[in-house]
Amino acid sequence: PISVSPTNRWFKIPDDEKGYKLDLFCVPKHYEEDLDQVIIPHGLIMDRTERLARDIVRDMGGHHIVALCVLKGGYTFFADLLDYIKALNQNSDKSVPLTVDFIRLKSYCNDQSTNIVKVIGGDELSTLTGKNVLIVEDIVETGRTMETLLSLLSECNPKMVKVVSLLVKRTPRSSGYRPDYIGFEVPDLFLVGYALDYNEYFRDLSHICILNENAKEKYKV
Ligand code: IMP
Ligand code: MG
Repeated sequence: PISVSPTNRWFKIPDDEKGYKLDLFCVPKHYEEDLDQVIIPHGLIMDRTERLARDIVRDMGGHHIVALCVLKGGYTFFADLLDYIKALNQNSDKSVPLTVDFIRLKSYCNDQSTNIVKVIGGDELSTLTGKNVLIVEDIVETGRTMETLLSLLSECNPKMVKVVSLLVKRTPRSSGYRPDYIGFEVPDLFLVGYALDYNEYFRDLSHICILNENAKEKYKV
């Protein structure tokens, strides 16, 4: 069979994308003043996630998968992606056992990625030895968080490691790192919603939206 690199397909959101007016969608009242535009509506996130699930099962479906959620930002995407993988598992003749694990990393303060990536919590990574690991992340910006996690993981000798990130930012600050599976490639803006946060706010927003400058000041720490 011809092997197709999974990375050559993603949904590209161009730099001049205008997005959608907030009042076309349901947005929590407490965030109405803080957001410029909806850039990825929740329904579109779900549709793209369904397809990522299919691609992942096609490529990794032969063996037990340990899905490793990068907290906190990855939790919504993780839950939805796993629901779609479960649906594939229970509706086809081929199925793959799925177990879950969680790790918490922190690299951000306000809207800036810092150079220090801290691991705060999660199981012993040594439980991943010999396993096929699928790392599930919300967004890759510089790539440092993922590169740090991958080098930590490699010390535990997993059998295979694949990374799926819902979003990848087009930015000159990128180290060049690209995940194996990408949901959307997005402009170099600070995005919130669908578990992406600004100082812990906006995880309780379903759509991915552009944060405005006032809000960056308002929720600054
Ligand atoms: P990196 O290490 O620069 O690739 O940053 C990755 C982490 O920064 C992600 O896991 C997010 O937690 C956070 N991050 C980067 N860009 C954004 C954004 O636009 N909104 C919210 N969080 C972000
Ligand atoms: Mg993250």
